[in-house]
Amino acid sequence: MLIVVGARFPRPVRVKVMKRKKAFFITVEGLEGSGKSSVIKFLNRFLKTKNFSVKVYREPGSTRIGEKIRRILLDKQNKKLSAHTELLLYLAARTQLIEEKLTKDLKNYDFVICDRFFDSTLVYQGYALGLGRIVNQAVRIFSLGVKPDLTFYLDVSAKTGLSRLGQRDRIESRPLAFHRKLRQGFLKLSRKNRKRIKVIDAGGSLEDIYKQTRRILEKY
Ligand code: TMP
Repeated sequence: MLIVVGARFPRPVRVKVMKRKKAFFITVEGLEGSGKSSVIKFLNRFLKTKNFSVKVYREPGSTRIGEKIRRILLDKQNKKLSAHTELLLYLAARTQLIEEKLTKDLKNYDFVICDRFFDSTLVYQGYALGLGRIVNQAVRIFSLGVKPDLTFYLDVSAKTGLSRLGQRDRIESRPLAFHRKLRQGFLKLSRKNRKRIKVIDAGGSLEDIYKQTRRILEKY
């Protein structure tokens, strides 16, 4: 057996905060069927008509590797995927996106919009799957210092959201109680982060959702 004298465990990780960020970083969160994609299209159009440069991503995904990870995560056949493996895969897809694209884009674009980001991990894996504190730490470390400036949480009841879906993937197929817990988790998280996370009532028409989103954005 080889014993290296004087070898040490690495010191606890210090999370770096990104410097020289130009872009305003917006994330959109919500339950399945809450209307995130439509809101993101609206935000993209709205900001571009004001002559801002905008980049849009989705999580997990938006890189070749991230899209492959997404397929594993959402594949209904993967019944044996454990909760911790699921967590690690979401984090892996995120670090890939940050290191491959986001860091650069946050320096070059006016706005970067992401369909889900670390709040989803906190709520889905941390709160609803019950992995708890380990998720907070892992999220802090593997977000590599990147944090949204503004987050829209589109609030709908689990039933309403699920009723808007077609074919369901692995996560969407979880029982109604899981989706209800997600909503609880998002609302709790929004209350804890009032400044950053804005709750949009997404139970009504798309027009109404756009109006609420636009009103908040214009304040910024
Ligand atoms: P989407 O279908 O809204 O694009 O998101 C993919 C699925 O992954 C959705 O069911 C939410 C879930 N998810 C997590 O469980 N944890 C995460 O960290 C992220 C980003 C998504």
